[in-house]
Amino acid sequence: MKKRVFSGIQPTGILHIGNYMGAIKNWVSLIDSHDCIFCIVDLHAITVPYEPGDMQARIHDTAVGYIASGVDPARCTIFVQSDVPEHAELTWYFNTVIPVAYLERMTQFKDKSAQFHENITMGLLDYPVLQAADILLYKADVVPVGEDQAQHLELTRDIARKFNNMYGSTFPEPRTLIGSAARVVGLDGQAKMSKTLNNYIAITETPEEIGKKLSVAMTDPARKRRSDSGNPDICNIYMLHTLFTPGGQQRSVAAGCRSAGVGCLDCKKILAEAISTELKPIRERYEKIKNDRDLIRSVLDQGAQRCRAMAQETIREVKGKMGLLR
Ligand code: TYM
Repeated sequence: MKKRVFSGIQPTGILHIGNYMGAIKNWVSLIDSHDCIFCIVDLHAITVPYEPGDMQARIHDTAVGYIASGVDPARCTIFVQSDVPEHAELTWYFNTVIPVAYLERMTQFKDKSAQFHENITMGLLDYPVLQAADILLYKADVVPVGEDQAQHLELTRDIARKFNNMYGSTFPEPRTLIGSAARVVGLDGQAKMSKTLNNYIAITETPEEIGKKLSVAMTDPARKRRSDSGNPDICNIYMLHTLFTPGGQQRSVAAGCRSAGVGCLDCKKILAEAISTELKPIRERYEKIKNDRDLIRSVLDQGAQRCRAMAQETIREVKGKMGLLR
């Protein structure tokens, strides 16, 4: 039997190259060797302020983004979290085994509470428990994510262990799989690339748009003049080269930066070309299917149907172990 993979992304609209390099590219590499389930986690997305009227379009765009990036629905399962109400149900059962103190320690909770300090909801605190429910509902073995999710995955294993200790062996402890692009830095050179910070390149951007965004992106701050030598090891632009630019060209960019032979503008042009080349087939597929509502609807409906059946089986087992089954 194939091992099971589960992962998900919040429907924030368009996917960026941090999502793609940090998570989705890894998903695609597992698609044939594993039983893969990929979720659009809309229940997570409502834990911070949002516009209800935009949500369905955001979900649609995320589904189109998955498929365009190579997450082939013929070889894996794609579904929307809120189509399977058992995610919320299992979250509630887990709420009764996990101490609040564990959740208050989560870095992402601390960061988001600082950002939305006027309205820190129970949902925001409970975010990682819902994430654990996502994964454990399907008894996933492997969870491919970016580095920022490592702590949530640790908590998922804590929850599995606590539940197993209290009610008997039920859940496997899933393995975190972090790829080589563990943390893609944003164009500001400061924080990780994210939609909220507007420091991103979307997977659908044209070569012109990519070139324009890169032209004003941060580089090694110590390299003030063209004649200064730079340090690629601390430059966010060079970090992107390591992800997108072929080896030989990458090495000559690094050497040129150090010797001041290659200026930041030229370096960015080479990067823009490399990113555009990688994204070209994704952009083309995206354009081709973005208005195919029937395709997306049928992929998501089929996904939900398969997941609901699996989820109901786990919930039955959990209720049985917890003494909730008549
Ligand atoms: P989200 O939507 O914030 O991120 C989705 C995925 O993209 C990765 N990622 C990055 N990787 C590298 N560099 C970046 N700059 C970058 N930005 C985002 C994230 O690590 C993540 O893998 N809580 C999850 C969503 C989720 C989930 C789950 C994941 C809900 N349930 C169950 C796995 C299993 C999240 O952060 O989504």
